[in-house]
Amino acid sequence: MRIAILASGTGSNCQAIIDKIKSGALDASIELLISNNPRAEVLKKAEKADIPHRVIEKKNFPDRAAYDSALVDALVRTRCELVVLAGYMLLVGGDFFEVFRDRMINLHPSLLPAFPGAEGIAGAVNYGVKITGASVHFVEEEVDSGPLIVQAAVPVNEREPLDALKHRIHAMEHRILPQAVQWFAEGRISREGRMVHLAPGNRKQIRPDGAWFVWPPLEEGF
Ligand code: GRF
Repeated sequence: MRIAILASGTGSNCQAIIDKIKSGALDASIELLISNNPRAEVLKKAEKADIPHRVIEKKNFPDRAAYDSALVDALVRTRCELVVLAGYMLLVGGDFFEVFRDRMINLHPSLLPAFPGAEGIAGAVNYGVKITGASVHFVEEEVDSGPLIVQAAVPVNEREPLDALKHRIHAMEHRILPQAVQWFAEGRISREGRMVHLAPGNRKQIRPDGAWFVWPPLEEGF
């Protein structure tokens, strides 16, 4: 499956996808990585992995609609079948939904619908939740609101520093995002309103170390 990635930051999730493709677990090719941030670390990761990458900055366009159209044009030219938002810090709008509705997924570091927005991890900790996690979902107009594809639960240990919790959440993100992409590649994901269905596959389900709970379960290789 041909995919494209939008990212703004470190790119550890982009790297996780690259690694799962290399290991053979993920049957996809990254046709293009686009970042809105010329200083993003993710660009170096793409460069190192020989992945075509571009910076498209919002400030070079008269308005949001023009910016989104430029991104969509670039994505359409790659003939990608799935757009993966992996730490893309801008909202997508307009043309994105005309062209890529139901073919766009996002990753968020909380158990949605709790704690959407930029402070997914700190928001959950400050609220005092005992369990938080990570979610992969379809992208819809409202931020972090689309139908859920897979979620991983991560317990909060009140004695640990925030960074340690972040690390454990990211470790789960690195598994559920590539796994979700692979389910698309296998044609097993379908959507009915807010419900997302995963058709049965051939790979064995696993319960990885340190993964407190993931649903639907991860499969071999992820
Ligand atoms: C992840 O925590 C993701 O959930 C959020 O942005 C972060 C991106 O991290 N949307 P990275 O750039 O992939 O390391």
